[in-house]
Amino acid sequence: MKTSIAIYPGSFDPVTNGHLDLIERGEKMFDLVIVAVLSNVEKRPLFSVPERVEMLREVTQKWPGVEVDVFHGLLVDYARKRGAGVILRGIRAISDYEYELQMALMNRKLEPRLETVFMLPGESYSYLSSKLVREIAQLGGPLKDLVPPEVEQRLRAKVL
Ligand code: PNS
Repeated sequence: MKTSIAIYPGSFDPVTNGHLDLIERGEKMFDLVIVAVLSNVEKRPLFSVPERVEMLREVTQKWPGVEVDVFHGLLVDYARKRGAGVILRGIRAISDYEYELQMALMNRKLEPRLETVFMLPGESYSYLSSKLVREIAQLGGPLKDLVPPEVEQRLRAKVL
């Protein structure tokens, strides 16, 4: 397995500046960062998978070493298929740790050759989440500095 390919998986509903901060950091460390949108989420998303992929492609096109894709099923199977050796995840605060630890250890059990690498986003994004962004948008609050302008436009259009 090549360790220079990292998968950055998530729901990205929608992508935030915190995600982008992490992608930018990952892009400096790995030859290829595959931003992988999970398509079999149970919760009702605000944006469809194609909408989320389109937004991610728009805001990551400046990085040639970043690709956006969709995956179904187990993350470890997808990583194996893509020849990735690393799963990239962000930890914002200690509250993220328990869930992330559980996922990382389960993924290690399922595929011991796959390493989870945790990165810290810039501290100004430590309180930022897609869930809060959706809530602020739905209640008509300001989204400046939380999401890229392209995403803000889509959010405004979605909640009108
Ligand atoms: O952005 P999220 O919702 O925190 O991302 C969660 C995600 C997509 C990384 C996680 O749910 C996942 O990897 N799902 C794929 C199914 C899977 O492999 N489950 C076992 C993981 S321990």
